[in-house]
Amino acid sequence: MSEDGKERTVELRYEGGSHPLPLLTGTEGDEAFEVKTLLAATGKVTLDPGFANTAACQSKITYIDGEAGILRYRGYPIQELAAGSSFLEVCYLLIHGELPAPGELKEFSEQLRANAELPAEMRTMLDALPRNGHPMTLLASAVNTLAAFYADTTDPHDTEQVERATILLLAKLPTIAARIYRNSINEAPVAPDESLDYVENFLRMTFGELSGEAELDALFVKAMDLLLILHADHEQNCSTATVRVVGSSQADLYGSVSAGINALFGPLHGGANQAVLEMLEEIRQLNGDVDSFIAKVKDKESKTRLMGFGHRVYKNFDPRSREIKGLASEILARQERPDELFELALRLENKALADSYFTDRKLYPNVDFYSGVIYRAMGFPTTMFTVLFALGRLPGWIAHWREQRLDPAARIARPRQLYVGPAQRSYPGQA
Ligand code: MLT
Repeated sequence: MSEDGKERTVELRYEGGSHPLPLLTGTEGDEAFEVKTLLAATGKVTLDPGFANTAACQSKITYIDGEAGILRYRGYPIQELAAGSSFLEVCYLLIHGELPAPGELKEFSEQLRANAELPAEMRTMLDALPRNGHPMTLLASAVNTLAAFYADTTDPHDTEQVERATILLLAKLPTIAARIYRNSINEAPVAPDESLDYVENFLRMTFGELSGEAELDALFVKAMDLLLILHADHEQNCSTATVRVVGSSQADLYGSVSAGINALFGPLHGGANQAVLEMLEEIRQLNGDVDSFIAKVKDKESKTRLMGFGHRVYKNFDPRSREIKGLASEILARQERPDELFELALRLENKALADSYFTDRKLYPNVDFYSGVIYRAMGFPTTMFTVLFALGRLPGWIAHWREQRLDPAARIARPRQLYVGPAQRSYPGQA
């Protein structure tokens, strides 16, 4: 709407006609041409591979300004949330729209603690899955089966069931992830402990006696909490868009989140943090020769990519990467021996940022660049990195699924295409 309350439109002119498109404005001044009547009115569609120019919905959850490097959840800058909130507060904020009052936070936390244990059949099922399977594959499978274990919480039209499914998913994902990890190293699982908070409990279930109650490392607890906050939502990224697409068919929350986990597993999405560590290892094998590696990246023939650099949306620093780099320095400064991979990452970043090849292409470190170095210092194997991303992203997926469920404008996702295959032809012998 313009200031005088009139709808603003732009006229789309094409050979043979024209069509008015409403011009919508978001809270922060972003603008969108609304094309929802385009096909019916003109018989034509828009073509936008990867949806890079397409807003699939209106959302009140997360705001990103990729040019300015801004990220806000429900209006709050990520830096302020990182400094002042716990991951549980951020979960509540994303899902319910406001920060919790102390009583609300207490109740939320108690519900999660009380529901962290897995049903016995689910524990048996997890223990029977291939122990050398990738943890992301196992995680997606386990989340999908929650719909079978809790079939009375799968109706997306029933608000009470949705509330229950929200709590069950948040409560059980860390327990599932920790059990998958313990199985992968052939160690006995550690049961959830109701006396511990969300992140402490996850670390305790993962590392067990290595960091039992008395030994939980306060800096690691803080680091894990912060990393989960920084990963909690990122508007219409690939996995969240997947959760929305699956949810748009009125599939249940578990199935939609399971699909999101599979989308996150891809190396171009959440799998990138694992790929960064593998890249740093490769450079280490080259005797730490960062210059040769940079030269290889610039050589198009070599097809070598600088993993953890660049982002579809950010054309400036990813604000999350700054927070993570600070955290990495804090953790690694405490180690007895210098961390070779962290030092390589710092050198690589400095070189790339001093090279116009990268800055001209607006390639800056993203969220994946330093997170793996921290996870490694905490003792996680690389195959668990994307699982940690999923733990952080869970409240974002849930918030988007719930927002869409209540959105009167939501429709089943059903894109069109521009067919470029063979024109009609006769089946051989039928001419
Ligand atoms: C994310 O946090 O999901 C990634 O940065 C990818 C994205 O936003 O497209």
